[in-house]
Amino acid sequence: MKKLVVMISGNGSNLQAIIDAIAEGYLKAEIVLVVSNRKEAYGLVRAEKAGIPTLYFPLKPYKDAGKDRHAYDTDLAEKIAPYNPDLIVLAGWMHIFSPAFLDHFPRKVINLHPALPNFFIGTNAIQRAYEAYRQGLIDETGCMVHYVIPEVDRGEVIGTVVVPMYPEDRLEDVEERMHDAEHKLLVMCIINTLYGRENH
Ligand code: GAR
Repeated sequence: MKKLVVMISGNGSNLQAIIDAIAEGYLKAEIVLVVSNRKEAYGLVRAEKAGIPTLYFPLKPYKDAGKDRHAYDTDLAEKIAPYNPDLIVLAGWMHIFSPAFLDHFPRKVINLHPALPNFFIGTNAIQRAYEAYRQGLIDETGCMVHYVIPEVDRGEVIGTVVVPMYPEDRLEDVEERMHDAEHKLLVMCIINTLYGRENH
């Protein structure tokens, strides 16, 4: 069975999509660990309900001790390594990883981003796309899954899907449409990454 580690910082609706796809039998994999950098992340509750081991691993104690991100990334990689993941899925994980983490898992870390490649890098991507649409700067937005490299929201693209916007949309409408698209795209990209022809 292929092993997944899923990393979250918030609601975890994308984690839930993975849990459901496994339960429904069309994603043949097992989530061996869910990691959160935020204690109050609802995704931790979702993981516990599904009987998945969790790890809460905050950055703050490192900052308070005057340690740098390199130390945090190294220790986190060492905590995850014994689980031997085939894939590490960043599903709303709001930290940027340095090579201190990524070098432990070459070509095994993928990220979901709520914008099309090279658009709205970083946080609040959906809101920024919505505002750009209202200003007539773009016609549509989308989401992507990509391999993670040290530059934020960059790296080889695995899959994308376009998310349309309409004149009557409120921000919440676009957010809901985005999340529906993400849930499908993420599961599809995990299947392709784990089982796709180019990986055999
Ligand atoms: C998702 O929209 C994901 O694309 C975004 O965080 C949200 C997490 O939602 N990630 C980023 O913005 C990364 N740059 P969830 O906690 O409900 O899965």
